Amino acid sequence: MDIRQLFLGAQLNQKVHLRGWVRTFRANRFIALNDGSCLANMQCVVNFEQTSEEVLAEINTGAAIEVIGTLVESQGKGQKFEIQVDSLRILGASKPDEYPIQPKKHSLEFLREKAHLRVRTNTFAAVMRVRAALSFAVHQYFTDNGFYQVHTPIITGSDAEGAGEMFRVTTLDPNNPSDEPDFFGKETNLTVSGQLEAETYAMGLGKVYTFGPTFRAENSNTSRHLAEFWMIEPEVAFNNLDDNMDLAEDFIKSVLAYVLEHCQEDLTFLDQRFEQEEAKKPQQERSPMGLLERLSFVTENEFMRVSYTDAIEILRNSKPNKKKKFAYPIDGWGADLQSEHERYLVEKHFSSPVILFDYPAEIKAFYMRMNDDGKTVRAMDVLFPGVGEMVGGSQREERLDKLIERMRAMDIDEEELWWYLDLRRFGTAEHAGFGLGFERLVLYATGMSNIRDVIPYPRTPLNASF
Ligand code: 4AD
Ligand code: MG
Repeated sequence: MDIRQLFLGAQLNQKVHLRGWVRTFRANRFIALNDGSCLANMQCVVNFEQTSEEVLAEINTGAAIEVIGTLVESQGKGQKFEIQVDSLRILGASKPDEYPIQPKKHSLEFLREKAHLRVRTNTFAAVMRVRAALSFAVHQYFTDNGFYQVHTPIITGSDAEGAGEMFRVTTLDPNNPSDEPDFFGKETNLTVSGQLEAETYAMGLGKVYTFGPTFRAENSNTSRHLAEFWMIEPEVAFNNLDDNMDLAEDFIKSVLAYVLEHCQEDLTFLDQRFEQEEAKKPQQERSPMGLLERLSFVTENEFMRVSYTDAIEILRNSKPNKKKKFAYPIDGWGADLQSEHERYLVEKHFSSPVILFDYPAEIKAFYMRMNDDGKTVRAMDVLFPGVGEMVGGSQREERLDKLIERMRAMDIDEEELWWYLDLRRFGTAEHAGFGLGFERLVLYATGMSNIRDVIPYPRTPLNASF
């Protein structure tokens, strides 16, 4: 039995048997017990006259204990039930002067250094439960909609994005160079995306998705980037870019609706936390909505859809701040948008999630379908307030000649991607897909502000502890 089950179906005078960790112990009498099953602690009332001095001395914050007792109506304020303890056993003591997670407010920076213990705080436990619920919701959404999950390789011989920010996988000893071939007989890296392999499966199974770890050696030490993150990549045969936008919007709404329904206790807690954090910011930087409000807003309203060309026009005519200038001025058509531009569109101009589409071909990957104008491609990015780019996707170039033309122009090795080109030779068809960064979704859903705080053990430049 766990505390969550007890709160869901409690019967007065029921005998209970719980195990968990002491959060606090007051007045030699009241234990706040938490077992991780939910946010709420169970108050356990100890009869100190019948408990030995030695046991009482070991009921410290962080200790693991077992409690057998009776569920009764609580006499105190703050909880409906409590446990009248009949017997208590210390399972694992915790030295009070050494345990770092004392019952007080700790900074997120401090807790990052104690990443092995931080899940014992309300904030991290709530975030990780919401993360787990979102992960379940992802699989549920795709399964309910007829998608098959495919496990694409983690070690790859190709660079899907043509970005080159990869982690090399090798068994060669850097200190002893030799002429021996490497383990796979060729250069291999950790995957930056499962997209190209997912495309091959979409062209046989119709609707597929991947959900796996992804690695990028970009040296961007920001609150939105990880070197190891989890990506969800659906790919659908016979879909075009409009279908792809519909899918991304429906998918995001559905998984957020799932956590709104199933994680009420944690989200209510995170909503209060979010409000406290926002209150510390200058007025003009504060989120206009609370966390719960912001999540319902997404599930209940249409995302705005704007072409890159229209977005540039909006940005050119905008007055983003008192100086009426962006740090990176909008020079003209063709440049990539900086995060300040994306934030302006999403947070100031539209105040809603925005799907930008039809980007200049020059700034996008080789596999995106060329539009008839010959200069834009059928790309889309889904931008979210506070998070920026949540999704990047496109309709894929299904015409062999156009694809080869693009690859040559962008210096992509045709020989290496012979299998990818084969898809365009045998039964080619329109198809489209996208990638959603799972941690960015968790960031948005939990209202946390740093991506390092929504994954158990973040991997970032100069940091791979734990
Ligand atoms: O826009 P990206 O690079 O797109 C792709 O990888 C395509 N192959 C996806 C596809 O069409 N199947 O990455 C997709 C998403 C981004 O929108 C962002 O949410 C997330 O992955 N992402 C990161 N998240 C955390 N840390 C990083 N370093 C990330 N880089 C991308
Ligand atoms: Mg992108």
